[in-house]
Amino acid sequence: MRSFRARSFGTSYATTAMVRKKTLAIVGAGRAGRELGRRLAGCGWRVGAVVTRSPATARAAVRAIGAGKPCSRLVPEALDAALILVATPDDAIASVARELAKLHRSSLARRVVLHASGALGSEALAPLARRGAAVGSFHPMQTFARSAAASRPASLEGITIAIEGQRAARRLAARLARELGGLPIVMDRRSKAAYHAAGAFASPHLLALLEAGVCLLESAGFHRRQALGALLPLARQTLENYRQLGPRGAWTGPVARGDQATIRLHERELKKWPAEYLAAYRALTRLQTKLLGMRK
Ligand SMILES: NC(=O)c1ccc[n+]([C@@H]2O[C@H](COP(=O)([O-])OP(=O)(O)OC[C@H]3O[C@@H](n4cnc5c(N)ncnc54)[C@H](OP(=O)(O)O)[C@@H]3O)[C@@H](O)[C@H]2O)c1
Repeated sequence: MRSFRARSFGTSYATTAMVRKKTLAIVGAGRAGRELGRRLAGCGWRVGAVVTRSPATARAAVRAIGAGKPCSRLVPEALDAALILVATPDDAIASVARELAKLHRSSLARRVVLHASGALGSEALAPLARRGAAVGSFHPMQTFARSAAASRPASLEGITIAIEGQRAARRLAARLARELGGLPIVMDRRSKAAYHAAGAFASPHLLALLEAGVCLLESAGFHRRQALGALLPLARQTLENYRQLGPRGAWTGPVARGDQATIRLHERELKKWPAEYLAAYRALTRLQTKLLGMRK
């Protein structure tokens, strides 16, 4: 793995006219774009264009943010704002940047464009940088779910926000992070894939593991609610032990004990399941052994 040094961003930076305006356009307003837009509006940012791919999703996004003008395609007004936040899926960022760069004939100097991808660096916004915009990336290490109404909205208080890019973009990104209550960390764009893979282990992969556990319990006769009631307290306590005791202190289970017969029993059962269950179980057993330092 490439080594990298992350550092907290310093507190002093020049206030630019651009930042003082606090005008914001959002391109891509799904889970992340809506939540960030809503929070930034709450911090005094004036939201202009909110761009998605259909009138219905654009209107829904504006309702969720509580401000802005719904747009179902990229329009030149998206470039009127001092800050343009691109929160499309990663694969669309480069094409959005190309399209945005074509929308405006004059220079984009004094604009900052940030994308929200955890994996990509600011190079994805190169066409906008060539037009004079300051480009960067701004990624909260937090999960924003489809329906925040179904649960408590994700907190950004103390959340790590990876920022990277050109100097003016980094400055504004650090300011945004602080306004949102997060902890800005400046990082090298070459380290972003590793950074984002770390987040994948801690969130979507974790979900896959829990859901696999729920399916196993359902096959054993549990209702889904009972299965969740059995597994969530276990998962929560494991995380709490990990926080307090560290990986070795928190480590329990058949691999930690060296109970080989139990591991074989699990594997025999998992052979009856779709192949991914046994493959994941075996891979995780090897990873446990490697990372937590016990021989299987
Ligand atoms: N969700 C998270 O937990 C989270 C956390 C941190 C960072 N992020 C980052 O935020 C970005 C977006 O993720 P997400 O989870 O919010 O995705 P999402 O929920 O799928 O939302 C994507 C949004 O982008 C719009 N879109 C797609 N292609 C577009 C295009 N070509 N032009 C304009 N808009 C387009 C979609 O329009 P429609 O609404 O019309 O479909 C939708 O509003 C990613 O880079 C991700 O890494 C996400």
